[in-house]
Amino acid sequence: MSTFPATRLRRLRRTGALRGLVRETRLDLADFVLPLFVCPGDGIDRPLEGLPGIAQRSVDELALEVGECMSLGISSVLLFGIPEEKDEEASGAYDDDGIVQRALQSLREEFPGLVLLTDVCLCEYTSHGHCGVIRDGEVSNDETLELLGRTAVSHAEAGADAVCPSDMMDGRVGTIRSALDDTGHEQTAIVAYSAKYASAFYGPFREAAESTPAFGDRRSYQMDPANVREALREVELDIQEGADVVMVKPALPCLDVIRAVRERFDLPIAAYNVSGEYAMVKASAARGWLDERQAALESLTAIKRAGADFVVSYWTKELARWL
Ligand code: PBG
Repeated sequence: MSTFPATRLRRLRRTGALRGLVRETRLDLADFVLPLFVCPGDGIDRPLEGLPGIAQRSVDELALEVGECMSLGISSVLLFGIPEEKDEEASGAYDDDGIVQRALQSLREEFPGLVLLTDVCLCEYTSHGHCGVIRDGEVSNDETLELLGRTAVSHAEAGADAVCPSDMMDGRVGTIRSALDDTGHEQTAIVAYSAKYASAFYGPFREAAESTPAFGDRRSYQMDPANVREALREVELDIQEGADVVMVKPALPCLDVIRAVRERFDLPIAAYNVSGEYAMVKASAARGWLDERQAALESLTAIKRAGADFVVSYWTKELARWL
């Protein structure tokens, strides 16, 4: 075994070109999805304090933003909706004239080649902010399933390429797959938030989506951050139920989970670089404590190195300029 001084790993780190030659992980804009928030009204472009650079936009403004993103080379977006009104049964989620459905119709028509993903969950549409309907003070799994199926079908009908259930009810992927197939949407893909943890890092998102639970928390349906074997069970079940892609969320606190899923399964893996992961870098950079571009590129590279095929990130638009 040859070792030092024969072996010197620094030889290949000497110049930028040498480092480029042996680089194992590269960022490609084609692997990134930009989350977008759509709200009712006209001419609205409301910046979000906790997510600098991200805004709530009405459908007309959203179309302008998407046009700009596409000219920068971005090919995929993930839509979240803020409805006019919220109620106990989340009716805005599966309304054919709901906010996400209207955004889909407009974007699908204007940008035929755009990949349109939608978040399928009830939390932005329920008056209490939970991801399902409440019965006897608890989130009812089985009663929520039907509403998720209806939501997914209405998104598919309005032009979604893939629906992304993020509610963490048991059995949702199977229910959604059947609902889509029964309505002639067998080509609509399911990107399942399979290993979604009850994470503190969703804080800024809840301001953006106006979806903070009015009571309690999400720990009875989202996963305990302490568990990884359970994540593999969630992923396995979602695959059996028909998921086309499985997602791990959040990303940076779960690099080991992404790696474990990569090693066990062969379907594409997505990772969600969530609002808190973005906001903490933005906040530090604003104070001059770290370099945002370097920190962002390092974070996104780490997520890909862990094994993600594509990444949902609020940095996608800035990334388009950086790459
Ligand atoms: C909806 C949903 C959430 C996020 C994505 N989909 C919030 C939550 O579960 O509370 C978080 C995204 C982010 O923090 O960027 N259930």
